[in-house]
Amino acid sequence: MIRFIEDPEEKQKISREILEALPEWFEVEESREGYIKGSAGWPFWASIEEDKAQGFLCLKETGKDTMELAVMGVLKECHRSGIGRRLFTAARDYAAQLGYSFIQVKTVRYGVYPDYDKTNEFYLSLGFKELEVLEDLWDEANPCQIYVMSLKDAINVIGTRHSYRGAYVEEPVPEEDLKQIAQAGINAPSGCNKQTTDIVVVNDPGQLDKIKAAIDPPVAKTAPAMIVVLARKIKAYRDRTFYIQDYSAAIENMLLAVTALGYQSCWYEGHITDEDRICDKIAKILGVPEEYEVVCILPVGKAADDFHAPSKKAFAERVKFNSWD
Ligand SMILES: Cc1cc2nc3c(=O)[nH]c(=O)nc-3n(C[C@H](O)[C@H](O)[C@H](O)COP(=O)(O)O)c2cc1C
Repeated sequence: MIRFIEDPEEKQKISREILEALPEWFEVEESREGYIKGSAGWPFWASIEEDKAQGFLCLKETGKDTMELAVMGVLKECHRSGIGRRLFTAARDYAAQLGYSFIQVKTVRYGVYPDYDKTNEFYLSLGFKELEVLEDLWDEANPCQIYVMSLKDAINVIGTRHSYRGAYVEEPVPEEDLKQIAQAGINAPSGCNKQTTDIVVVNDPGQLDKIKAAIDPPVAKTAPAMIVVLARKIKAYRDRTFYIQDYSAAIENMLLAVTALGYQSCWYEGHITDEDRICDKIAKILGVPEEYEVVCILPVGKAADDFHAPSKKAFAERVKFNSWD
């Protein structure tokens, strides 16, 4: 289980336990002690089973837009078990949620020591890209490879999008950002290009208050903006309609744009389209024409609370290659 550790003493205890068990990578006492000391003040994740730490990972900020994977270690008997990847995923989600654009990591360049070659392979498998080799940052025998990962590329944005249902920071969302989010929505594909999805962006505090008052039980009470998604239930051809697919594609595009711009949101459809038809009340407040239906609202804002990625089934349970067997 991956845990975010906050107690500085616990952090140092875990980092000491793990790093001292990995002399192949952390033999030099001075640098090992530097990592252990530093870890007390860095965001810190540990993989813990039956009260025993199997590995840990720390981030540290190196610039306004960049976090560095400052140090990580996984016990050798736990290598190739997915622990390093899970630790990294938790750290990547955290950095993305805080709006960072990049994660960098430094290691000894490929081809110098077999143990560090495995480290290079691990970082590459996570999606890191080569940025630069600094031949004498450390010393001649240890050329420093810097890897970098963009948290804003499509794959990472998809990976770091999660439904957020917490409170929002009291801060308006710039109109330019709301326009980009709405543009992402209308850029989505639509069946027969019928473009059945339209959008009302709500950032006027008076209108927002009216919408929030119509949502019972309340959700997104503190959101500084909302995207209201409208669908026209028209036929694409013969008796076939694609409006559900159309607005689903538009919503996902907008959720990804929200994530890429450093905001949080949640796809609220079930909540507003149930028997109490909150959607119709929202449509009335916004003066939505008859031929449209309000199908979903997406709050937009910066997260004020922590968020939790939901558990998802294992890849192999849901994805097969070439046949279902
Ligand atoms: C069609 C649809 C309707 C949804 N309606 C709601 C809703 O009314 N309230 C809510 O809290 N989440 C709603 N969600 C969000 C899902 O609960 C969420 O996507 C799911 O739990 C997976 O979590 P994730 O989005 O973090 O991956 C909806 C999602 C979809 C696709």
